[in-house]
Amino acid sequence: MPSILDSFRLDGQVAIVTGSGRGIGAATAIAYADAGADVVVSSRTQAQLEETAAAVRERGRRALVVPCDVLEAEQRENLVDAALAEFGRLDILVNNAGGWPPKPTLKTREKEFEDCFRFNVTTAFAMTRLCVPKIVQTAGKGSVVNISSVAGRVHSAGFAAYGTAKAALSFLTKNLAQDFAPKVRVNAIAVGSVRTEALGTILNEETEKVMVDMTPMARLGEVEDISACALYLASPAASYVTGEIYGVNGGLTGVNFPMPRADL
Ligand SMILES: NC(=O)c1ccc[n+]([C@@H]2O[C@H](COP(=O)([O-])OP(=O)(O)OC[C@H]3O[C@@H](n4cnc5c(N)ncnc54)[C@H](OP(=O)(O)O)[C@@H]3O)[C@@H](O)[C@H]2O)c1
Repeated sequence: MPSILDSFRLDGQVAIVTGSGRGIGAATAIAYADAGADVVVSSRTQAQLEETAAAVRERGRRALVVPCDVLEAEQRENLVDAALAEFGRLDILVNNAGGWPPKPTLKTREKEFEDCFRFNVTTAFAMTRLCVPKIVQTAGKGSVVNISSVAGRVHSAGFAAYGTAKAALSFLTKNLAQDFAPKVRVNAIAVGSVRTEALGTILNEETEKVMVDMTPMARLGEVEDISACALYLASPAASYVTGEIYGVNGGLTGVNFPMPRADL
């Protein structure tokens, strides 16, 4: 008898996960391998990619390591070409590479604002534009998962660059879902504070206590909290879900990293 759990499997599928050398991207690559997918792992640091690839292979799946800086158009093209040359198909794209530290708005230069937008939004647009036609040509249908943030949902001092960029990524997700339905679903995750190297740059005993106290679920997130949702969104279990931004953030209704207002 078929089980509902079968609809969470990705057997025979191929996924590209950007920024999968560590953190949320690595956990997502590993979750997809657990579910039966072959995975193209990609970021800038080869040694970390080899670790993620080893974890994929331990699960009996194939892994292809392709170093790629998502900010570089030629490297993005090479990533997609290499994936197709190795596996002959593409089903899933996860736009995970991104991030930016919060910073007082009046100290954020115009160039930084634009760089933040380019890293978090333009690269996801460019990767999606490259991959969607290939997904349709080689697999018939598929899915894109964008890793957005709770900072793109709520308003807070110090988040003018990152919050605005992630809000744009979430809105882009909804627009692309309309463009590509019914063949390719496009969804995003509004991630809360998750224990990764990126969060480590602002984490100490004091900030962690504040963050946990402000989080209804009373803890930081772990990468598997996010990869579980990324698996659901990519899988046939979510085949009727597109254009959605799923919150996985411990119930946050505001940013849990308070920054001072501008000193005017
Ligand atoms: N952790 C959180 O609390 C949190 C909260 C909300 C949203 N998010 C989002 O989650 C995503 C992943 O963050 P994370 O916390 O997992 O960060 P992380 O642990 O620092 O991992 C980031 C990954 O992206 C790669 N990367 C960085 N710059 C890249 C570039 N230019 N091109 C390709 N790959 C690049 C890194 O490897 P290399 O440096 O070797 O390239 C690494 O593999 C980001 O989009 C972030 O905005 C995280």
